[in-house]
Amino acid sequence: MARIQWDDSLSVGVGLIDDQHKQLIRRLDDLARAVEENQGPKAVATTLSFLTDYTHFHFSAEEGLMLAQEYPRLDEHRALHEEFRTVLKSLDVDFETDGASTFLADQINRFLITWLTNHIGKADREVWQFLHSRNNTLQ
Ligand SMILES: [Fe+2]
Repeated sequence: MARIQWDDSLSVGVGLIDDQHKQLIRRLDDLARAVEENQGPKAVATTLSFLTDYTHFHFSAEEGLMLAQEYPRLDEHRALHEEFRTVLKSLDVDFETDGASTFLADQINRFLITWLTNHIGKADREVWQFLHSRNNTLQ
């Protein structure tokens, strides 16, 4: 099972967002670990629900900042967030039905971890570069 860890190459240069990304990565890694180590349905359910809650919190915070700063590609970015939310929701349903199956482990690897790393490294970086160029009080 792949694992995900924060490293400085993922920094978008805004402390608040980097901190939220670190937390999001930690939550996702907790889920990956719970499944990998067969920690049992209760542990997986808890980590999955923490990840879902934190994802909602973080995406809403990002979207709120983009809206406030009139980021021109907000709709596009929002659709990317929606994609991640949808997969999380479907994993939750799969987990309810089949438990911590190899399918779940596979989806976490192939989708969530890869998606988040790419998203932070590309789409989010683009957002924060733009917002930085407009508002140098962001840090
Ligand atoms: Fe984002």
